[in-house]
Amino acid sequence: MCGIVGYVGGKNAQNFLISGLKRLEYRGYDSAGIVTLAEDGSSTLIRAKGKIVNLEEKLAKSKREDTIGIGHTRWATHGEPSETNAHPHQAGHLFLVHNGIIENYKDLKRTIKNHEFKSETDTEVLAALINSFYQDGKHPLMNAVVQALKLVKGTYGIAVVSELSPKEIVVARSGSPLVIGVGHDETFIASDASALVGHTKQAIYLNDGEVARVTSESIEIKTLRSEPVSAKVEEIETSLSAIQKGGYDHFLLKEIMDQPESLTETLRGRVNVKDGVVHLGGPGLSEAELRKIKHLIIVGCGTAYHAGVLAGYYIEKFAPEVTIETVIASEYRYREAYIPRDSVALIVSQSGETADTLACLREIKKQGIKTIGIVNVIGSTIAREVDGGTYVHVGPEISVASTKAFTSQVISMVMFGLTIAQAKGVKTSILRPYVEEIAKLPAEIKKVLDVNKDLIKEIAKKYKGYEHAIYLGRGTAYPTAMEGALKLKEISYIDANAYAFGELKHGPLALIDNRFFEVALLPEGELYEKAVSNVQEVLARGGKIIAVTNVDKFDLEVEDVVKITTPLKIFTPILMNLISQLFAYYMTVAIGYNVDQPRNLAKSVTVE
Ligand code: G6P
Repeated sequence: MCGIVGYVGGKNAQNFLISGLKRLEYRGYDSAGIVTLAEDGSSTLIRAKGKIVNLEEKLAKSKREDTIGIGHTRWATHGEPSETNAHPHQAGHLFLVHNGIIENYKDLKRTIKNHEFKSETDTEVLAALINSFYQDGKHPLMNAVVQALKLVKGTYGIAVVSELSPKEIVVARSGSPLVIGVGHDETFIASDASALVGHTKQAIYLNDGEVARVTSESIEIKTLRSEPVSAKVEEIETSLSAIQKGGYDHFLLKEIMDQPESLTETLRGRVNVKDGVVHLGGPGLSEAELRKIKHLIIVGCGTAYHAGVLAGYYIEKFAPEVTIETVIASEYRYREAYIPRDSVALIVSQSGETADTLACLREIKKQGIKTIGIVNVIGSTIAREVDGGTYVHVGPEISVASTKAFTSQVISMVMFGLTIAQAKGVKTSILRPYVEEIAKLPAEIKKVLDVNKDLIKEIAKKYKGYEHAIYLGRGTAYPTAMEGALKLKEISYIDANAYAFGELKHGPLALIDNRFFEVALLPEGELYEKAVSNVQEVLARGGKIIAVTNVDKFDLEVEDVVKITTPLKIFTPILMNLISQLFAYYMTVAIGYNVDQPRNLAKSVTVE
C-alpha cells in the first residue's frame, strides 16, 4: 500500500521521483523519501514525515543532477510514521525501498551482525540482510538480493540501489506489484503504472518470485531460482487526463461526477437493449458451464464487498436456483468453508491488488472452483490470476474512498448474473427490465448528480457538527446504506454505521439521541411501507432524519428530504448511493478534512 518509484537514465532522477511519488501518494502518505546516486556513487538521501510536499520542501535545499535513484511513499505497518522509519533504508552502501511486510523480520534480525539498526521497520532488516550477502560489493547486487529474498517470509515489492554500482537498480516482487517502464535509454520503476503515464507507454509487469536488474538500456529478469524470464512488454492504456483532477477541487468529486461516463465505459459493447440481453466476453464460460452454476460466492473488501452484497440481492431476484454468498475476504481466507463443486467465485477488486482478496482467489482456485474477476486495474495481479473476468473499465480511481468503481462493480456483477439467467433460459420478459434500466442508468446518474449537487452541499453544512450517523435501508437499500455509512466514516471521521431497518428494534434504536442523525434510504417498492413504519419509530424517539426517496407523495415530517425523480424502478438504490457519495464529500469539505487522503487509510491495501 506504499508507493515505489525508481529511475535510471540520462535525466534528472529527483524530478521523476518526486512527480512519480505524487502520483502514488494516494497509496500511502505518512512519510516519504528518495535517494539518488551521483556518477561517483555518492548518495543523497532525503526523507520527511508527512506528505510529499514536506519532502519536496527539503529537496529544494538539496537539488542534485543525479540520474539514478529510488523513492517511496509510506503507509506505516512496523513503526510509527517518522523520518527515521521512512524509506529508503540504508545498510552499508545500499539503499532499499519496500512495499509489503517481512513476516519473519524478528528471526532474521537476530541473525544479522555488523549493522546498527536505526528504525523500527521490517524493511531495514531486509536491507541489512541483503547487505550481509552483498558484502560491500564483493558479490553482484542482484545475487545478494536473490539470496536474501530466499530467506524472507511475507510479501514484498522492492527496489535496491548501491553506491558501489550507481548504474543499476535491482527490483523484485512477491505479492506487491512492481512495474518496469521501458523508455529510450532510460528505465522507470513504479509500484503502479500511473506513475509512468506521460513518460512511457511500454511496461513490464513483474510476476511473483521474479527479480530484475535494470540499467538505462537493459532489463534482465530471472526467478528466485535463477531461471531466466523473457519479459513481456505491455501497453499502458491510461492517459494523462485520466489521472488529473480535470478542473475539480478534489479527485473524489471528479470521480463522483465521472460516473455517467465511467458507467458508459463499463457497458460499452455489453448491452443489447433491442433484444433485451447482455453479452460479456471476458468470463470465458460456455453456455453449458453457465447453466450448471448453482452457487455464486462473491469476495471483496470494503466498498467492493458492499458492491458484492448489493449485486447479490439483485441477482437472486432473477437467476433461478442460484444461491449467493457475499463474503469479506479477510474473514473468508481463514474460514474452513465448504464450496460446492457447481460454484463460481466472483473476485471483486478495484485495484486488483488487495492482499486478502488475492489470498481468497488463490485459495478458491486451489479447490478447483472457477474464478471470475470484477476488476478495474488492467494487468493487476488479480486480473492476471483469475480464470476469466470482466473489467469494470472506470479508469483510474485515485481518491481513497471508492465511488465510481462501486457503481460499475454492482452493474458488472448484475450483468454476469444476467448471463447466467440467459443461459438458464429465463424468459426475456423477466430480464428485459433489468437490461433496459442498465442502459438508462448513465443518463439517470447524470441527472441525479446535476440536480442534487448544490442541495446536498447545503444539507451537509447543517449536519457537520454531529458525531454519529446511522444509515438505514431495507432490501437493496440496505447494502446501499452500508456503503453510504462507509463513505461518510472514512472521509469525514463521523462515526457512521448502517443497519437494516428491521434490525433497529433489536438494539440500535437505543442509540438515538441528539448526537445522532439518520439517513433513511426509502426507494419506492414493496418494502417501502414497512420502511416508513420504521422511520416513524425513529421520529417518535426524536431522531433527525434525512430521507432519500423517489416516492412522489412522500409526506413524512422529517428534517430533510432529497427527492430523486427517475423512471427507474430497479436501480434506484444506485442513484441513492450517489446522494450518499455527495453527502460524504460535502460533509468532509465543510468540516475541513483532506478529502482524497483520509487519515490512516490507503487506496490499495496490499498487506493483511
Ligand atoms: C481500501 C480502499 C477502499 C476499497 C478497499 C478494497 O480500503 O480504501 O476504497 O474499497 O480497499 O479495495 P479493492 O481495490 O480491492 O477494491
